[in-house]
Amino acid sequence: MSPSKLNLTTSVVNKIGALRAGFKTSAILALVPVFVAVSVGLTACGDSKVIVSEDKGLVSSKVTMGDKEPIWPNDDPSIPDGGGVYQAQNCAACHGVDGKPVAGKATVDFSSKDWGRNQKPVDQYDFITFGKTGVEHPAMRDKLRTSQIWNLVFYVRSLSTPPLTDAEISEVLPVFGANCAVCHGTKGYGNGPLMKGNVLEPAPANFQSFPRFYDRTDEILWDHIANGIKWEGMPNFLGKTDKAKNITFDRDYIYKLVGYVRHFHESNKTEAATKAAHDKEKEEESKPAQQENKPQT
Ligand code: HEC
Ligand code: HEC
Repeated sequence: MSPSKLNLTTSVVNKIGALRAGFKTSAILALVPVFVAVSVGLTACGDSKVIVSEDKGLVSSKVTMGDKEPIWPNDDPSIPDGGGVYQAQNCAACHGVDGKPVAGKATVDFSSKDWGRNQKPVDQYDFITFGKTGVEHPAMRDKLRTSQIWNLVFYVRSLSTPPLTDAEISEVLPVFGANCAVCHGTKGYGNGPLMKGNVLEPAPANFQSFPRFYDRTDEILWDHIANGIKWEGMPNFLGKTDKAKNITFDRDYIYKLVGYVRHFHESNKTEAATKAAHDKEKEEESKPAQQENKPQT
């Protein structure tokens, strides 16, 4: 490890010490040698999606509504493919092409941001798959595969909150890199350089975890980024600035960060394109490290 990397880490650790009341800097400094010792063997930890299921067939009727674990998707759900399912299943007959309810058929407005931001993906999955007691609703359990239902969930969500475009993702990338990646990792696995020494307890959230993030509304994510999570090492960002990037973390920008967090577990591309992109990433990661140092031509 280069000395400069160590210094960077030490200074960030000190910053966190300041953030976490009652946690003495000296105690954190004592952890740094541990960091050096441990990090060598830990580079691969956590580098995978948390809970990925095979997309075998129709959702089993044995996975019941309510308290049981849903079947998680086998890759980031595809919003455009979900649009295809929405059309094929004629959801628009009651919910409208743009999510605005058809009079006399439904009342919920999928295009409303206030509604969308307060929905957990997992609850929407449950409703679409099994329906709900007391509501007359087509259940998709016997019609669609697991991944098709997840695609549908994220398509419905996109009617109020469109996913970040590729251009927006590239725009937020350096801001995320400068403010979040030290803990959460560039790819969101919760394994940033700071975490490699297991300095933080609890560990920074892994944005690739389906069970965790499908159990969050956008409002909750917004609140956690805006106000931080006290005593747990997640700083508060609302009202702060990143002068180097000329960014103010205001209400709207924090919603953009929510969209960025979501892009680690939903996709604005087709299923096939999402898989191709992930395969390519894996291939690049498995290349020998020295290739990175090749001179630019
Ligand atoms: C026959 C009309 C009809 C069709 C077709 C229909 N829905 Fe619904 N949907 C409703 C009604 C009624 C509700 C209950 C809330 C309301 O009154 O708007 C609802 C509610 C919902 C909800 C919200 C549940 C909540 O927590 O409030 C979701 C999500 C949903 N539908 C998704 C879909 C999807 C996806 C499709 C296509 C596979 C679909 N619906 C097809 C009538 C319909
Ligand atoms: C100093 C380390 C650190 C930095 C920097 C940091 N986080 Fe976190 N973050 C954490 C930790 C630790 C948790 C987990 C807290 C827990 O599990 O309760 C967390 C949790 C989260 C969560 C999950 C909350 C939930 O509902 O589960 C989100 C979203 C999040 N961070 C976003 C961000 C974003 C966006 C940034 C940059 C703008 C950022 N974090 C910067 C340490 C950090």
